[in-house]
Amino acid sequence: MTTDIVKDYYGKTLQTSADLKTEACCTPDDMPSYVKRLLSNVHDEVLAKYYGCGLVTPLALEGARILDLGSGSGRDVYALAQLVGPKGEVVGVDMTDEQIAVARAHVDWHRKKFGYKTSNVRFLHGYIERLDELGLEPGSFDIIVSNCVINLSPDKLAVLRGAFDLLRPGGEMYFADVYADRRLPDAVRTDPVLLGECLGGALYWNDFHQLAKQAGFLDPRLVTDRPLGVTDEALADKLGAARFFSSTYRLFKLAGLEPLCEDYGQAVVYKGGVAHSEHAFVLDKHHVIERGKVFPVCGNTWRMLKETRFSRYFDFIGDFSQHYGVFAGCGTAMPYGTGT
Ligand SMILES: C[S@@+](CC[C@H](N)C(=O)[O-])C[C@H]1O[C@@H](n2cnc3c(N)ncnc32)[C@H](O)[C@@H]1O
Repeated sequence: MTTDIVKDYYGKTLQTSADLKTEACCTPDDMPSYVKRLLSNVHDEVLAKYYGCGLVTPLALEGARILDLGSGSGRDVYALAQLVGPKGEVVGVDMTDEQIAVARAHVDWHRKKFGYKTSNVRFLHGYIERLDELGLEPGSFDIIVSNCVINLSPDKLAVLRGAFDLLRPGGEMYFADVYADRRLPDAVRTDPVLLGECLGGALYWNDFHQLAKQAGFLDPRLVTDRPLGVTDEALADKLGAARFFSSTYRLFKLAGLEPLCEDYGQAVVYKGGVAHSEHAFVLDKHHVIERGKVFPVCGNTWRMLKETRFSRYFDFIGDFSQHYGVFAGCGTAMPYGTGT
């Protein structure tokens, strides 16, 4: 069974990130310096058992309530705990006993390190396909993060639906995962090492977009992507010509987002004020919004800024009263850069 293979891989086969055979479950070092500072406050044992593939530190988190799906040894939970501050909360969920044990062993160490009176993190043992069994209040999370986990799930739609239910309106899923440029053959999907290494279970990107929409996330936004190299010859041989990408998406829970980017002649102006983003605010790969500049947006982007925690950082120009057609450049080609 898939979940048993994955539990064994992360609980027993791997001892530290040095045991990984590919770079799928590794995050490159070129991260912002403030994230490096957050990670320097995280316990060595937690860092050693980190197997994520991207950065899940969205902006403007002060006081937020965050859930981490497949939190592993807790690296992202402890990084986010510093960003939400003592009034926020970060909850991690994982099914592997060994990983949860490491995460829980260091709760008090981190509380002291961060100078908090009470800890603002907790770790739940459970399955991300059955989030409704964890006693969490529907609509109670501002953000749900996940780092290189959903590819491992045998029921990805259940994961996305459960996350949708737990988010409050205007909340978002912000997560890094592995995707492929095509649907993978059975031999690849069922290979235990390829599965454990976060490649075998990778979704074809377009299937992921459709699945996200089915779960209620109507306009998936790509934030970052990078091609993944597979240097192990035997594994590369099994994978054939398929190409893989580590990508970070954000999925807003906003009812009634439109299937395409529609132009209502609207624009926004970023006023500044978001920590670590004084000069420009990055919503996604196509929206780097410089401070003080009038930035034309489609109706969906307008709502992602106006009906979320970002609203107070923007001025909004226009409304939905007049439609000017589809927003230019709203395409359907593969969204990732191939690095070639
Ligand atoms: C690649 S590791 C990533 C761990 C962590 N996010 C990190 O960045 O270090 C995958 C983690 O997801 C957990 N996991 C995989 N499938 C799961 C499921 N269906 N339910 C709960 N946890 C799961 C595994 O136990 C493992 O800890």
